[in-house]
Amino acid sequence: MKKLLMTLAVASLLISCNKEDSTSVNESSNQTASLAGHRGCYSHEHLEEQLKADPTLAQRMNDIEVHTAKTAAAIETGRIVNGVLEIPVVVNVLYRTTAENISQAQIQSQIDVLNKDFNAQNSDYNTANNPYSSVRANVGIRFVLDAVYRKSTTKTSWGTNDAMKKSTQGGLNPTSPTTKLNLWVCTIGGGILGYAQFPGGSSATDGVVIDSKYFGTTGTATYPFNLGRTATHEVGHWMNLRHIWGDATCGSDLVSDTPVHNAANYGVPAVGHRSTCTGTPLEMYMNYMDYTDDRGMYMFSNGQKSRMLAIFQVGGSRASFR
Ligand code: ARG
Ligand code: ZN
Ligand code: CA
Repeated sequence: MKKLLMTLAVASLLISCNKEDSTSVNESSNQTASLAGHRGCYSHEHLEEQLKADPTLAQRMNDIEVHTAKTAAAIETGRIVNGVLEIPVVVNVLYRTTAENISQAQIQSQIDVLNKDFNAQNSDYNTANNPYSSVRANVGIRFVLDAVYRKSTTKTSWGTNDAMKKSTQGGLNPTSPTTKLNLWVCTIGGGILGYAQFPGGSSATDGVVIDSKYFGTTGTATYPFNLGRTATHEVGHWMNLRHIWGDATCGSDLVSDTPVHNAANYGVPAVGHRSTCTGTPLEMYMNYMDYTDDRGMYMFSNGQKSRMLAIFQVGGSRASFR
């Protein structure tokens, strides 16, 4: 494979530079061409000299070709449009009741919320007196509904052991989980709104589960979790974000521009609510990675954005989505 790529690399270099003067394949003919008033390009001859003089150069150039091939392929297949990564979304609906068999409109309403929340287009993005407005992020990831699969089942609730992701357990296997975000919509039970698999897990169970009563903004979506923010929060986890309180008293979320919280916030905290941790910082309770009601959360931070985008870079754990 390496040898083939190197051959391709050298072949493409050979044809790359001499469009203006295809006869200038060696020094003397190039000189002749220049003398005859043609434009010449010496880059390829220069490269050949450097390749002879430096035996390590070929390997470095090969590495560049490997990177270019991966990145260029993503751009050509249209998954990076104007710098914005597009993620195909597969929605797997598992239902027993007709209410659980949510409508296409409810599904689309959730896709719309994800697109607003991840592109600073949510109507509450500019909420007045946000003390953290200077670190608000436009994450720049778009979600495209790719397919909806529906399956009638006899289960009243699915729990959190991934049964909904396995056809052998009555669920639906994920579709192309290394290139598509799979969402499972079903009744979870136990007061759980949703849960996600972090990067690094098995692709057979990769994706996000959302209870159908907290999915989207219409149909069966139920207050105070009827603004589609459960999926925003869970997709944040799927993109490697931790809870803002670091899942411990005054814990760390591994993001430097979010303040330390002593614990999760619920409902809609009072403006100016402070942490009891060192320095008593103002809490960023309006962050999607807190536990407030849907109407109380409306931003990711720039540090969270960097953390999310990192996994999609070449070499990142979700680079296959590029
Ligand atoms: N995993 C969290 C839970 O099940 C989701 C919290 C989402 N918060 C929200 N406002 N929608 O409780
Ligand atoms: Zn969470
Ligand atoms: Ca932090």
